[in-house]
Amino acid sequence: MSQLISRVDYVDADTEDKMYEAMRDKFWYPVAYSDELTNEPQGFVLYGKKLVVVRLDGQPVVFDDQCLHKGTALSLGKVVDDCLRCPYHGWTYDATGAIRRIPAREELSEHINVKLGSYPTCETSGLVYTCLGDPIHPPPSVPMFDDPSYQFLHLDVYEWDCSMARRLENYFDFSHFPWVHDGLLGDSNQPRVDDYAVERVGGELRFVAGPFPEFTDNVKNAPTADTDGDQVYGAIKRYRVFVPNAMQLNSSAGETEDYVLWVCLAPVGPERTRCFTYQGRNYGLDHGEEFMAFAQLVTDQDRPIVESQTPAQVPITLPEEMFVKGADLALLEYRKWLLELAGLRS
Ligand SMILES: [Fe+2]
Repeated sequence: MSQLISRVDYVDADTEDKMYEAMRDKFWYPVAYSDELTNEPQGFVLYGKKLVVVRLDGQPVVFDDQCLHKGTALSLGKVVDDCLRCPYHGWTYDATGAIRRIPAREELSEHINVKLGSYPTCETSGLVYTCLGDPIHPPPSVPMFDDPSYQFLHLDVYEWDCSMARRLENYFDFSHFPWVHDGLLGDSNQPRVDDYAVERVGGELRFVAGPFPEFTDNVKNAPTADTDGDQVYGAIKRYRVFVPNAMQLNSSAGETEDYVLWVCLAPVGPERTRCFTYQGRNYGLDHGEEFMAFAQLVTDQDRPIVESQTPAQVPITLPEEMFVKGADLALLEYRKWLLELAGLRS
C-alpha cells in the first residue's frame, strides 16, 4: 500500500490558515470580467475586505468600499465627471482616491489630505485584477484570448462554499471525470488514469494528461475527432496551472480544433471562493449557446461534490486524505507548492 499511496502529513495544525494568509499579498486576483466593468461601481469581497471596482475615464480602479465620511458603501454610488460619488452625502473621490467634493462645505475638500484606500489594477485576457500587496508574478493570462480565430465567452461570476485550492484542484483531479461526469467527460468503465509528468515553469505547473475517453453527447468534441459510436478517443488535456489561483486548460480530441477553459479564482474568505470562467474555442463559432450550456452543466455537476469536501480548506493536516501515486501527481505538486509559498516547506 505504501508504494501506491503518499501522504502530505508533515505540517502543523495551523497550516490551513497560514496558507490562506500567505497567498493574500503575493498574487493578482480577478475582480471583474472586462466586458462587464463600466462606470457602474461593483462591490465585492476579497480576503474579507469589502472593495469596490469601477471604471473612471476608462481605467479600472479598486477602492475600499467605504466612504471616509460615514462608512457608506461606495459601490452604491455613481460616477460623475470620472469621479466616484458616495450616495449618502455626495462626497466625491477621483481616480487616486483623493476627495474632490464635500458638498455640504465645498471649501473643505482641498484641505483634507486623507485618501480613500486604493489598490493596483491591471487588465488582461478578459479580466480585471487587483492585488492587496506586492505580486511576485504578473497576472495570469491566456495567449489565445487575443487571437481572432478564437471565440471566448464567459459564465456569470459565481461563488462556491469551498477554499480557492479546493475549487482549482477540481479541474485537474483527473480520476473524478469518469464518476462525476460519466458519459460526458469520462467513462466509469475506464477509470484508470495513466501516468503523466508535471513540471514547474516560472509561476506555473505544466502537465499533459490523457488521452481520456469522452462521449459525443459532449458538444465540445471536435468534428475531426476519432469516434466509434458514442465514444470519442484521444481527448488530450494540456494544463497551465498558475499557482495558486488560475488555470488554462487546452483540450481537444480533434486534429485542428482547440477548446480552452480559462479559470481564475479569488478568495472571498478561507472557505468561500469567487470564480471567473471563460470558455474559448477555434471551432463551432456559431454554437456559443450550446458550448456555454455544456460549461454550465459540468460546473453544476462539480459544485455539490466540491462543496461537500471536509474540511472546506485543503486538508493537508488530515492523515485520512491520501494521494494516489501517479493519478494524483498534479494535486500533490500543487499542494507542495502552496506549502512552499506559505514558507511551510522548502
Ligand atoms: Fe469535474
